[in-house]
Amino acid sequence: MTRHVPDFVKHKELQRWVSEIVDLTKPDQVVWCDGSQAEYDELCAQLVARGTLIALNPKKRPNSFLARSSVDDVARVEDRTFICTENAIDAGPTNNWEDPAQMRQTLNGLFDGAMRGRTLYVVPFSMGPLGSPMARIGVELTDSPYVVINMKLMTRMGRAVYDVLGEDGLFVPCVHSVGAPLQPGQSDVAWPCNETKYIVHFPETREIWSYGSGYGGNALLGKKCLALRIASSMGQAQANDDSPGWLAEHMLILGVKTPSGEKHHVAAAFPSACGKTNFAMLIPPAELASQGWEITTIGDDIAWIWPDEKGRLRAINPEAGYFGVAPGTSYESNYNCMKSLNQDVIFTNVALTDDGDVWWEGMTDQPPAHLIDWQGRDWTPELGAKGVKAAHPNARFTVSATRNPVLDEAWDDPQGVVIDAFVFGGRRSTTVPLVTHARDWEEGVYMAATMGSETTAAATGKQGVVRRDPFAMLPFCGYHMGDYFAHWLSLGQFLAKRGVQLPQIFCVNWFRTDAQGRFVWPGFSENARILKWMISRLQDQSGGETHFFGTSPSYTDIDWTGLSFDQSQFDQVSSIDVAAWREEFALHDELFQSLSDKMPTALLKIRETMQTRLDEMSEDV
Ligand code: GTP
Ligand code: SPV
Ligand code: MN
Repeated sequence: MTRHVPDFVKHKELQRWVSEIVDLTKPDQVVWCDGSQAEYDELCAQLVARGTLIALNPKKRPNSFLARSSVDDVARVEDRTFICTENAIDAGPTNNWEDPAQMRQTLNGLFDGAMRGRTLYVVPFSMGPLGSPMARIGVELTDSPYVVINMKLMTRMGRAVYDVLGEDGLFVPCVHSVGAPLQPGQSDVAWPCNETKYIVHFPETREIWSYGSGYGGNALLGKKCLALRIASSMGQAQANDDSPGWLAEHMLILGVKTPSGEKHHVAAAFPSACGKTNFAMLIPPAELASQGWEITTIGDDIAWIWPDEKGRLRAINPEAGYFGVAPGTSYESNYNCMKSLNQDVIFTNVALTDDGDVWWEGMTDQPPAHLIDWQGRDWTPELGAKGVKAAHPNARFTVSATRNPVLDEAWDDPQGVVIDAFVFGGRRSTTVPLVTHARDWEEGVYMAATMGSETTAAATGKQGVVRRDPFAMLPFCGYHMGDYFAHWLSLGQFLAKRGVQLPQIFCVNWFRTDAQGRFVWPGFSENARILKWMISRLQDQSGGETHFFGTSPSYTDIDWTGLSFDQSQFDQVSSIDVAAWREEFALHDELFQSLSDKMPTALLKIRETMQTRLDEMSEDV
């Protein structure tokens, strides 16, 4: 076992920690990654030789690969995700809590010898532009080369990070093992993992330990683990009398240029697999584009947000790539995304075509006559008709942000962009209208806090069940959800005192269905029409009807040029059903009840106000 530390690593504590984890996990080798293209290419070649990656046809999809995961390692495992704080109340009832000392014992047992027969890779990464005042550094020790290549595309990874770290810079230590040690002479499987899975966070000491999974948010520890769970806790812990702290949010960030040339920035939180990547890359319909509307991407999944010296909220995308949902992505639904996927992509759990390219449900109207499905089996459209999916519903692509044709020029700006509006949206087949503008910050926080959404394939477990998903952060908040609401409220108070205009808050729902279960709203690029209405609301408060929840557009307030969507269709996606809202409020109450030990009273008051307004509304009907 070589323990040679390269010259470019000057950080003594980092070296000590790596050595400690090597002693524990007992790998055959240690590789200090430099993040170079040569290193990436070499790892891809090794993974092809080992059978983890299939090289796609270079004429169709240059420098791209397909990975097929183990059938039981296809999504985040929320029931195996833990927040270990000294006191259970600090993690709150929405997180799985375990005593840190006990969890450390469990982890020590699991990681002891976990990397036998494997290589431990040291992966230094920056979340946020290198050297940005908002960037945070992590180092992931992993025995998965698949994780290394994904981290290379998803983060700023490599030597430059060691330069920023210097001799004593702060970093978040992240330990990851697939939990599949190899005995001498034993041959490897294509996708090693373990039935036992633990995704563990210690927010107080800022450490991450992940065991047993090689997939996505379970294994690429910079993403959900660091940039959301640990970072949300860091941002809240930094709040004090002089500073409101900062926010780590499950949000896309987009730029929108209006016909008069003004540039606005919108941050939007939708739960997993509910449309962030699509919204971030959308192309306005031809009629709006010809008026001069333009949309550009800053980020598609995570935003770090803080107030600047003028009291405006600024945001960066801490990531450098996209780990996006493949199914449903087509030239029709998301042209820019398809363009981003032309080369240099890692696909996971999509189907393979006979000519060495990829396919997934929704990519084309007609599926190819023959495919190899995500589990490596023959697939034909006849099987598809029986409901057998060629690609896993949570099949993903990993690609560098720089491949996105509409990447915003400020996407990499260390100072971030100024946020003008927040949008919150869930996947709701009923009840929640197409778009609503909150009366003020507090009511916007209420909307976001009480958001519900139907569960998707992005996490294991039953799908299509409505659950509360406050701020789209239910699986990602590293501390008590009641404290999180309070953090948002106090940030609003801080900004209001500075006398600047606060970002406006909107709530959307693209997913109302008709009696046949079909989406009524065409969505995707047509969402630009809703964005246009929102921007008009930022400029002046005209164009809408105010109701108990906020202000929603009337049919005539939306620009319908080029789209046939009539008043009755609009009513189907916008109507407010008082009886359904009474049931909805009962679900808000349930959530608030579960958080009662830390529930901000301001939100409870809004709950009462809303009830009074709803009662008045039902008397009017
Ligand atoms: P994560 O990466 O899991 O955080 O997901 P995301 O929020 O980025 O979701 P994404 O944009 O990848 O979309 C997920 C699914 O929702 C895809 O199958 C899309 O086709 C579908 N979708 C996205 N936008 C819309 C929309 O406006 N209307 C409808 N009906 N479906 C949409
Ligand atoms: C999500 O589930 O919200 C994702 C995919 O963005 S994962 O990286 O697996 O978390
Ligand atoms: Mn996500």
